[in-house]
Amino acid sequence: MSITEQTFIAIKPDGVQRGLVGPIISRFESRGFKLAAIKLVTPGKEHLEKHYDDLKEKAFFPGLIAYMNSGPIVAMVWEGLDAVKTGRSILGATNPLASAPGTIRGDYALSMGRNVCHGSDSVENAKKEIALWFKEGDVVSWKSAQENWVF
Ligand code: RTP
Repeated sequence: MSITEQTFIAIKPDGVQRGLVGPIISRFESRGFKLAAIKLVTPGKEHLEKHYDDLKEKAFFPGLIAYMNSGPIVAMVWEGLDAVKTGRSILGATNPLASAPGTIRGDYALSMGRNVCHGSDSVENAKKEIALWFKEGDVVSWKSAQENWVF
């Protein structure tokens, strides 16, 4: 068992505009994950195109980039047991119509094109995304007093 897995989670511009930063952070904190990095950013088109590079051939790509570029994003690194997979389950299915109630998208979103949040889909992609969005020194390694009680 490794408790050091990290995942990249972003609150997309609609999540920020709708005042969902607090509730989203709260779900990761209360589940037992540890915040390792956080910033509010407007990274620009080029950066967002790099982030979604695997989707560049998709018809929805230009709309996706315009949406992601429409306002500030909260970029975060969360750490803990199985953080990538469990992070995705906290977010819910990509299409909010299929997201279970109790997930972030299942509680706060209706449309695939405004689905509030992003989470890495594999450990390998998490590493790439963390390196794209954060400088090495921005990701903080710290011991949470709560860890003994969570794990
Ligand atoms: P994300 O990267 O945002 O966490 O989403 P995901 O892995 O669950 O899904 P992915 O297929 O990577 O899609 C990235 C984002 O593109 C938008 N999308 N629109 N058919 C469509 O209109 C469509 N498909 C995907 C969503 O905002 C999705 O989160």
